[in-house]
Amino acid sequence: AWRRHHEFFVKEATYTRLCATKNILTINEQFPGPTLYAHEGDTIYVKVHNNGRYNITVHWHGVNQPRNPWSDGPEYITQCPIQPGDTFNYKIIFSTEIGTLWWHAHSDWTRATVHGAIVVLPKHGASYPFPKPHEEVPIIFGEWWKEDVMEVLQEFVASGGGPRDSDAYTINGQPGDFYPCSSQDTFKLNVEYGKTYLLRMVNAAMNEILFFAIANHSLTVVGADGSYTKPLTKEYVVIAPGQTLDCLLEANQREMGSYYMAARAYSTAVGIPFDNSTTTAVLQYDGDSLSPPTSPLLPSLPFYNDTTAAFEFIGSLKSPGPLLFPLNKYDTQIISTVSVNTLPCPNNSSAGPNGTRLAASMNNISFVFPFIDILEAYYYQINGVFGTLFPRVPPFYFNFTGTDLPSILLTPERATEVRVIQYDSIIEVVFQGTNLVAGLDHPMHLHGYSFYVLGWGFGNFDKKKDPLNYNLVDPPFRNTVIVPINGWAAIRFKANNPGVWFLHCHLERHLTWGMETVFIVKDGKEVQERILPPPRHMPRC
Ligand code: C2O
Ligand code: CU
Repeated sequence: AWRRHHEFFVKEATYTRLCATKNILTINEQFPGPTLYAHEGDTIYVKVHNNGRYNITVHWHGVNQPRNPWSDGPEYITQCPIQPGDTFNYKIIFSTEIGTLWWHAHSDWTRATVHGAIVVLPKHGASYPFPKPHEEVPIIFGEWWKEDVMEVLQEFVASGGGPRDSDAYTINGQPGDFYPCSSQDTFKLNVEYGKTYLLRMVNAAMNEILFFAIANHSLTVVGADGSYTKPLTKEYVVIAPGQTLDCLLEANQREMGSYYMAARAYSTAVGIPFDNSTTTAVLQYDGDSLSPPTSPLLPSLPFYNDTTAAFEFIGSLKSPGPLLFPLNKYDTQIISTVSVNTLPCPNNSSAGPNGTRLAASMNNISFVFPFIDILEAYYYQINGVFGTLFPRVPPFYFNFTGTDLPSILLTPERATEVRVIQYDSIIEVVFQGTNLVAGLDHPMHLHGYSFYVLGWGFGNFDKKKDPLNYNLVDPPFRNTVIVPINGWAAIRFKANNPGVWFLHCHLERHLTWGMETVFIVKDGKEVQERILPPPRHMPRC
């Protein structure tokens, strides 16, 4: 399956789910899209031809792209969108990533159906740090709307309120047995008794963190976000939009038969309606044709707002080491709130509270996309496209998680503010969740880097006390961290990848509302510490 050059045709295709047929945007008419394979350290090329109706870009989520922000993908951050009829050849440079990553469109809500897995295999001749699985299977979680997703987005933006909830969760594009008109297409994984399978899990859902489990089977996590972890055996896993997990599954049930694998939302926001339905796929033992068919057993999943269960899992993930840079100190600490807010609505016709519209922010700045990309403006020194005041100095302090926060805090500033970072410095970022409109968990994703997740907790981050409990020994190395509801999370990375790197909440509605910023990591002194020259043809805005 390994090739150096790939062609992605962005194209509409007709799909039927939940008793209804519609056109969706796809790559090569596939949903989910094709799996890309690479070996550790490879460079591959994907030529994206936009044969659709909308602007689009593609992002290689979790691929650090050393010195190569040109092919990172987020629209108006590192490139202008590929317009209908246009083409862009992405150069995807793998370095130390290993395991499962994914690619997805990074333009409006097109990623709902334009996504697929990336599998990074060990170098030729090298092997896994665990027994070779009998088979490897992508398990991609998604969300399905019966309506056209671009219409869902338009209604959402026009309403000023929250988006319409999806109609189903999906596993490998299928809702599963508990949704209407779906059971005949439920994804089935055939397994042989006594064999081990590697599930390459991707959460490509738009707006929900998920719990996942398989009836009567435990899962052994061996990787997360494109890095190995210490093996961790669990009855359920938690996976946020943007995150990936590599899990070993042992087909060890003597009774054979069939078992459900199931996923359902983990959602903490109070008062926000969401889809609490369950998507399923079936684990089917081969050679079981003699026993009469029975309906598969359902796994038990934690309750939808069981934060304790969620963080019990998240907190158990550990890196196997060795650490890629020392964790005894940092050079710069950046503390930023992540909040849902409200903004005044010009026509007062809005669904938000008191004639406002909902918004989101980091450190009370609701990010505004510029009309040429930040990378171009930075590289060619075009003024007036972005400011460099993120986060505002001094940082914006209040009792972040208090009740009845003064409403003046609800209104963020709309601006395009980025943060400039010195090459090779060690950066600590503390994300502080707030209780402004609705406290909830935020999966924060940084492009261009993986980072160590040193700690997290509930309530306000205490600069003195909380760092004493950091895990500086074997913290997990991830690219998306879940900031707990009304709590904080601290990460650290070494800024040795010069470029323009997007940082955002991976809940799509929060990204639309402005919960994002950009880190510009400056060039180092040596030639091999600088951004690569741009490709000859970049799309124009
Ligand atoms: Cu999955 Cu901006 O990324
Ligand atoms: Cu968020």
